[in-house]
Amino acid sequence: MSLTERIAHLEEEVAKATARTADEAERFRVVMLGRNGAITELFEAFKQVASEEKRVLGQRMNALKQRAQARWEEFKAGSDQAEQASAPAADLSRPALMEPAGAQHPITITRQRIIDVFARIGFTVSHGPEVEDDRHNFSALNFPPDHPARDMQDTFFVQGPGGMALRTHTSSVQVRVMENQKPPIRTISPGRVYRNEAISARAHCMFHQVEALYVDKGVSFAELKGTIDYFAKSLFGKDVSVRLRPSYFPFTEPSAEVDMSCTICSGKGCTVCKHSGWVEIMGCGMVDPAVLANCGIDPESYSGFALGMGVERVAQLIWRVPDLRMYWENDIRFLDRFAAEQTLG
Ligand code: DAH
Repeated sequence: MSLTERIAHLEEEVAKATARTADEAERFRVVMLGRNGAITELFEAFKQVASEEKRVLGQRMNALKQRAQARWEEFKAGSDQAEQASAPAADLSRPALMEPAGAQHPITITRQRIIDVFARIGFTVSHGPEVEDDRHNFSALNFPPDHPARDMQDTFFVQGPGGMALRTHTSSVQVRVMENQKPPIRTISPGRVYRNEAISARAHCMFHQVEALYVDKGVSFAELKGTIDYFAKSLFGKDVSVRLRPSYFPFTEPSAEVDMSCTICSGKGCTVCKHSGWVEIMGCGMVDPAVLANCGIDPESYSGFALGMGVERVAQLIWRVPDLRMYWENDIRFLDRFAAEQTLG
């Protein structure tokens, strides 16, 4: 057979071909277009053709090849449809496969609720670094050079020059904000803090705090107390009460610790409040004038209050998580329990 005859023959074959199943479509492709297929072989033979004939024959062969490819596409599409048509109808009564919904981590939920409560009374959110220098974590906050909180026992120091350490509290962000902003300042600073503690159900070497700072002309202790009362009632409901106990922090004067009536037992006494009916929720006080001055704010013109709370502690009073380690293990059975929780928004 001459090449022209072979082309004519294959043109006829391609036109006549049928395929109803995917297998038949594939057989057509192998026989015509496969590595040893008839059309592929035709192109091999074409290499011997005299050059005057090449143009005409070449066009015809390209057309044949395209036609074969198009038919193969048709066969494939047709066989898909045929197979779908013969498949059993979908069972519409079957229960859907539900994707499990993700949940926010309880610390994220709690932090967001705290932010929302403060945002409503005009507090913005500010952040600071977790690896902090001595000035921002300690010295500007009035920690004397020999203060026990600087001790190797409590602070994770970072190797290298400059005495950098993982911040031990978010009060460091107070200093950064006051260095950079003019009063009036109303801000809260949520974040992770680190202390060299043995890990147990009641203590962890890393946890979360939220710091609040308010600096303006004539800020009073009464406003501090009113803010704390508003905060506790917004988060835990109208029935909770708070009490302040005198305390000491280097960066506040006067200083207090804040107890809230136990949300778990409503003050009747339980293991969370150690049967006292009260749980400590934060430290607070009036920003020490020396701290204002350390940060470039004139203590003669301005005063302020600050407070700091542990987020894990607040979360425990919402959900009664018995062991601090659960917050870090990310056991899916624990996290799933928070799927239905909402932030206040
Ligand atoms: N920084 C303190 C701590 O880590 C908490 C604290 C106490 C923050 C009193 C304050 C404050 O702003 O006024 O335990």
